[in-house]
Amino acid sequence: MKRSAVLLETLMILATVGQSSWAALSTSSCKEMGSSTYRPHTVTVTEFGAVGDGVTLNTKAFQNAIFYLHSFADKGGAQLFVPAGKWLTGSFSLISHLTISLDKDAVIIGSMDSSDWPVIDPLPSYGRGRELPGGRHQSLIHGSNLTDVIITGGNGTINGQGSVWWDWFNNHILNYTRPHLIELIYSTGVVISNLTFINSPFWAIHPVYCSQVLIQNVTILAPPDSPNTDGIDPDSSSNVCIEDCYISTGDDLIVIKSGWDEYGISYAHPSSNISIRRIVGEAKSGAGIAFGSEMSGGISDVEAEDISLFNSLYGIRIKTSPGRGGYVQYIHISNVVLNNVNIAIGITGQYGEHPDENFDPNALPIIKMITLEDIKGTNIKHAGTLEGIQGDNFSSICLFNVHLNVTSSSPWQCSYIQGSSNLVSPESCEPLRNPYQTSVCYTANHVRTQNLVQAA
Ligand SMILES: *[C@@H]1O[C@H](CO)[C@@H](O)[C@H](O)[C@H]1NC(C)=O
Ligand SMILES: *[C@@H]1O[C@H](CO)[C@@H](O)[C@H](O)[C@H]1NC(C)=O
Ligand SMILES: *[C@@H]1O[C@H](CO)[C@@H](O)[C@H](O)[C@H]1NC(C)=O
Ligand SMILES: *[C@@H]1O[C@H](CO)[C@@H](O)[C@H](O)[C@H]1NC(C)=O
Ligand SMILES: *[C@@H]1O[C@H](CO)[C@@H](O)[C@H](O)[C@H]1NC(C)=O
Ligand SMILES: *[C@@H]1O[C@H](CO)[C@@H](O)[C@H](O)[C@H]1NC(C)=O
Ligand SMILES: *[C@@H]1O[C@H](CO)[C@@H](O)[C@H](O)[C@H]1NC(C)=O
Ligand SMILES: *[C@@H]1O[C@H](CO)[C@@H](O)[C@H](O)[C@H]1NC(C)=O
Repeated sequence: MKRSAVLLETLMILATVGQSSWAALSTSSCKEMGSSTYRPHTVTVTEFGAVGDGVTLNTKAFQNAIFYLHSFADKGGAQLFVPAGKWLTGSFSLISHLTISLDKDAVIIGSMDSSDWPVIDPLPSYGRGRELPGGRHQSLIHGSNLTDVIITGGNGTINGQGSVWWDWFNNHILNYTRPHLIELIYSTGVVISNLTFINSPFWAIHPVYCSQVLIQNVTILAPPDSPNTDGIDPDSSSNVCIEDCYISTGDDLIVIKSGWDEYGISYAHPSSNISIRRIVGEAKSGAGIAFGSEMSGGISDVEAEDISLFNSLYGIRIKTSPGRGGYVQYIHISNVVLNNVNIAIGITGQYGEHPDENFDPNALPIIKMITLEDIKGTNIKHAGTLEGIQGDNFSSICLFNVHLNVTSSSPWQCSYIQGSSNLVSPESCEPLRNPYQTSVCYTANHVRTQNLVQAA
């Protein structure tokens, strides 16, 4: 079946199974802000010498255009238009009060020469590059300490040509950690909308130390065997809203993070108030919605609803390890439809992967107040593999109205977890067989992202 047909069919299924939440969508807390931000001044990248032939390197044209637009920042900001064409470029940096708008037939193409992607400092919450010690290649579209930035288009494309990076990674010849397609650091009031992202070298969209971020109506594609090509990774960020996306990549589709072991613990920047809705996708080598494994700054107040996943390794997954510290708490996930998924719900307390030998093995994560509600699955292998840490039970793990058609004869594997359940089939594991109680389980919709509108 074609992707669009799958999407349409899934939306129809969601519309019928989740009538109550469907109706609530009109009161969505993620108000659209992108289209309402008028920029009084517009330039086109060709005015700065760009050539859209797919061969000419346009890094300087993008940099010069954005440098020129500096002078409009205090006059309502400006827009950089990228017309139809193939615009090869290396990494470039954004400024505040800027809109980058792509024509529907515009393709921004990342250079296949790693020297066009400068090396920048590691993030303080990671202490080093995620893949290798030291710095990391700067993302194709980079921004730090910005406010009021919009990256949008009529479904134009940003193509990272990631296969060269995947080969360097697989052959162990990278010198530094791979770059993202978009990374925004210490920024507020960010909109990324109406675009298609393909073949990112590494995670596609990475907001870190950001707030008031809206990611809406984007398509993110990478092959299922491309290494670590996560879709969207909100990291140590708050008031983030992700809606109406189709994602199919080689790792997790949406994964919330907050720093790595001792670096994340001391930097102490949590991810909180994150709202995710109407996501469709395929995570053949990862999870649909995931948390961690880097979660050392803490993750709380996350709401995900109306999620449809197929052909995936995991549906929902929490990953952590001794040494991480931090917490994952107040997580509410509802109205999920799964089809052809290996493990519907996964929690692992022994993920491993440490930045260096200086992590504290006694820094145990707190995992509590996790509720999964209204989950349906067909062609599921294992219902749940839920593993806490000895001496560090994961608690208040609650399942309500979870119905999975499972092929494995031992559908639930549970250790070091506590919680409760109601209306679960196949019957949940013994530690979760306590009656579902609102006093024990996280039920309320506490996640609020209304502040988004003020940002624009
Ligand atoms: C996306 O495009 C649609 C259709 O052109 C438009 O109505 C909407 O405002 C855009 N969304 C954002 C967030 O820019
Ligand atoms: C960016 O913001 C961070 C956090 O507020 C600050 O530590 C850093 O110095 C800023 N960087 C620049 C270049 O202004
Ligand atoms: C999503 O993007 C498509 C293509 O640009 C547009 O036609 C549609 O209106 C957008 N939908 C939303 C909800 O913004
Ligand atoms: C945007 O383009 C992608 C890639 O061509 C396509 O798969 C997707 O359906 C389009 N999205 C919208 C909303 O039209
Ligand atoms: C790694 O560094 C070497 C030596 O500077 C260089 O020749 C090579 O191209 C670099 N590899 C990558 C993938 O950037
Ligand atoms: C699961 O299987 C049962 C019996 O085989 C069937 O009645 C039910 O409709 C299936 N549920 C789903 C969600 O497909
Ligand atoms: C930890 O959870 C297990 C069930 O998985 C339970 O038997 C045990 O008593 C719990 N330990 C503590 C200290 O609560
Ligand atoms: C999260 O939302 C709550 C409720 O609206 C608010 O009190 C809190 O300040 C928000 N947290 C952050 C980090 O913005």
